Amino acid sequence: MAKLQTLGQFIVEKQKDFPYAKGEFTRLISDIGIAAKIVHREVNKAGLVNILGEHGTQNTHGEDQKKLDVFANEQFISALRSGGECCIVVSEENDEPIFIESEVSKDAKYIIAIDPLDGSSNIDVNVSVGTIFSVYRRKSVNGRATLEDALQKGTEQLAAGYIVYGSSTMLVYTTGNGVNGFTLDPSIGEFCLSHPELKIPSKGTIYSINEGNYVHFPLGVKKYIKYCQVEDEASSRPYSSRYIGSMVSDLHRNLIKGGIFIYPTTSQAPKGKLRLVYECNPMAFIIEQAGGRASNGSTRILKLDVDSLHQRSAIFIGSAEMVLQAEAMLNEFGY
Ligand code: AHG
Ligand code: MN
Ligand code: MN
Repeated sequence: MAKLQTLGQFIVEKQKDFPYAKGEFTRLISDIGIAAKIVHREVNKAGLVNILGEHGTQNTHGEDQKKLDVFANEQFISALRSGGECCIVVSEENDEPIFIESEVSKDAKYIIAIDPLDGSSNIDVNVSVGTIFSVYRRKSVNGRATLEDALQKGTEQLAAGYIVYGSSTMLVYTTGNGVNGFTLDPSIGEFCLSHPELKIPSKGTIYSINEGNYVHFPLGVKKYIKYCQVEDEASSRPYSSRYIGSMVSDLHRNLIKGGIFIYPTTSQAPKGKLRLVYECNPMAFIIEQAGGRASNGSTRILKLDVDSLHQRSAIFIGSAEMVLQAEAMLNEFGY
């Protein structure tokens, strides 16, 4: 029987790969794992208790917050606050960065960007949701961490990961040395290594985009969608269309099976919908580390300048050959 390896054991073992790490980084990932287990528990009982539905407040983007968004946000922030390794948390659910200043965190050198609950419109209908996180090292050396510390490019990420609360709950993360996936075994309450060294197929047969917005797409995107739908035996087209409406779940499937996920600019959302700092950058880091590709149509996502915490970006991400094909059509027909 294969040896069972828990997330805790795995990260302690990997700490050897980071000679400068003194255990804080290990602790950080493990704190995220603990908060993820608590959110898993709540997501799983969401149908049983009165935690579903609108919370009655709006987040910074004017969207209604669901109760579980608020709950997940609180869990991750509180785990990071008490862990003491983190000096700033940037969250989708908070307009301003959260500066953590306490006795335990006075020497904290890490910054976390997080989408605590991704795909929240799926909660009420028992469909997979997720969490996305990204880890940076603070740049400033003295005093209080600053906003600039939180505005780093995606290439500066030390680690990124997601949790998908699906038919099983999985945590997938990278520290820039490949991607590993862990499945939660609820009977022992541990994430166990189930998908070592994940690689995304270089091409696939799935495209994921909200096609209901078709009329609002730029011409290059419309042309690429039509390309996906044309019959061609050599490239196994037409492709299948699969769209859950939760980026984590859609990308998790495409990571395993091969495929492309697209959220383009639209005439309604001229900068795209998804957020660069806590949605696009972490997913781009993970997918690149798995051998895939991520761009805004022409520029690598990870190279984009970060001017504000909640800025948006178009994204074309997934199997490298499929993203390249989409980029070629965007370049030809405009986007
Ligand atoms: P969130 O629930 O964190 O606001 O994110 C929802 C995002 C993303 O997960 C998903 O891919 C996309 O919004 C779906 O948007 P559309 O409903 O416009 O397709
Ligand atoms: Mn999201
Ligand atoms: Mn969210």
